[in-house]
Amino acid sequence: MLTIDLKDSVTLVVGGSRGIGGAITQALAAAGATVTFTHTGAAQRQDQVAALVTAIRKEGGRVEAVALDACDAQRTASVVDALARESGRIDLLVHNVGQNAARPAEQVTDEDWTRFLDINLTSAFNSVRAVLPHMVKARYGRIILIGSSAVYSGGGGAIDYAAGKAGLTGMMMYLCREYARKGILTNIIHPCVIETNLLRERYRDGAARQKLVAQIPVGRLGKPEDIAGLVAYLASPWGDYICGQSVLLDGGRTFFQ
Ligand SMILES: NC(=O)c1ccc[n+]([C@@H]2O[C@H](COP(=O)([O-])OP(=O)(O)OC[C@H]3O[C@@H](n4cnc5c(N)ncnc54)[C@H](OP(=O)(O)O)[C@@H]3O)[C@@H](O)[C@H]2O)c1
Repeated sequence: MLTIDLKDSVTLVVGGSRGIGGAITQALAAAGATVTFTHTGAAQRQDQVAALVTAIRKEGGRVEAVALDACDAQRTASVVDALARESGRIDLLVHNVGQNAARPAEQVTDEDWTRFLDINLTSAFNSVRAVLPHMVKARYGRIILIGSSAVYSGGGGAIDYAAGKAGLTGMMMYLCREYARKGILTNIIHPCVIETNLLRERYRDGAARQKLVAQIPVGRLGKPEDIAGLVAYLASPWGDYICGQSVLLDGGRTFFQ
């Protein structure tokens, strides 16, 4: 029987409170990992964060929630260092933070450009730079970045989002080349049309939704759990020979619609 056992894995999910990140947090905890997940600390989401923690602990999982603006490099470093100090190491980083606002490129202001690159690219650099010293010291680490199919298709409707997510692929390639020999394996998953609030808001009416589903060869929208399952696999010993890979998780939509 193929099982995914992450017992003893000290894991940090940056942006792990809801949607895809929430499913990743849940799956890793269910596989036995000790998970710390971050959220923005937004007042309107406190109940959701508390509910996720309660649900995981009810199943016997080990989880902590930490408020973090992932664009704040100093605070990211202090969250990571505190976790490494308490746990002795950090085995796995999943960086899931991302934000998109569809509008024509001519309408993107300088402030927008900086802000969306901060959220979609620099936040990942902050997380990666903070965990690397701990992983290098342990000569072990797994890093999984969450990108977007926009990198291949130009979809998503925003130049700053597509550019930021494409930057993550370059970051992943660099990390593989420079750090795989130190025991740190990095991969990126590019989701597409995964049913989260973000997607539900974009495709509200039934007709638009049906049109979307018709473009997906697998015949359905993706579920956050589709991404979470692959994250758990890559983080487990089954993923020990997988490095430098971009996995498009889109039900075939990007190339075969
Ligand atoms: N859904 C899709 O079809 C799709 C397609 C392609 C790519 N993706 C990518 O997949 C990832 C997850 O998407 P999703 O649909 O699950 O998004 P979501 O529901 O909007 O969740 C985003 C997560 O990131 C956190 N976050 C946002 N900004 C942050 C910041 N500055 N600092 C720390 N945390 C922050 C949020 O925390 P709070 O709960 O506190 O706000 C939340 O946990 C994103 O990177 C997205 O770009 C999704």
